[in-house]
Amino acid sequence: EILFSASAIARRNLELAKDIAARDYNDLLVISILKGSFIFAADLIRAMHDAGISPEVEFIFISSYGAGTESSGRVAINRDVTEGVAGRQVLLIDDILESGRTLAFARDALRARGAEVRICVLLDKPGKRKTALEADFTGFVCPDRFVVGYGLDYAHYYRELPYIGLVEGR
Ligand code: IMP
Ligand code: MG
Repeated sequence: EILFSASAIARRNLELAKDIAARDYNDLLVISILKGSFIFAADLIRAMHDAGISPEVEFIFISSYGAGTESSGRVAINRDVTEGVAGRQVLLIDDILESGRTLAFARDALRARGAEVRICVLLDKPGKRKTALEADFTGFVCPDRFVVGYGLDYAHYYRELPYIGLVEGR
């Protein structure tokens, strides 16, 4: 079942990019959290170009989930950014904000190195929050269901779907 279509996501990405551009960040550094946000980040930075911003782009590989649909609560950096972030205005991009543990961990790690951190997520499941964290930019509020596609996986599959969908029975 399709929850957010490819065209709805594309329209929303352009709105998000315009909202981000309106903040007039200085020499923005976008950090995409792998693996889940790679497709969203790729589309969002191209929408940023259309909105008139030229960000620098980095990746950080963080894992919080096991292979199933339940958060383990354990978060770790598997591969770090390769550039210094001290004094930088950083926009951290993730696919989905659920408990908030992944983003809180990444935000705190980058803040500890002297970055000023904002957060942009494609999806927000506010009903599942376990931390006080909120995103600065949110694509869509998502129902409390397990979703896949557009970079989000179920046990490493479905990332290639061009839309966000629900997995039957989940
Ligand atoms: P949090 O740390 O609980 O906020 O979870 C965020 C991470 O869990 C995301 O980066 C996703 O990789 C994963 N996640 C949370 N909900 C879903 C979902 O519905 N489908 C696929 N992955 C999810
Ligand atoms: Mg995942």
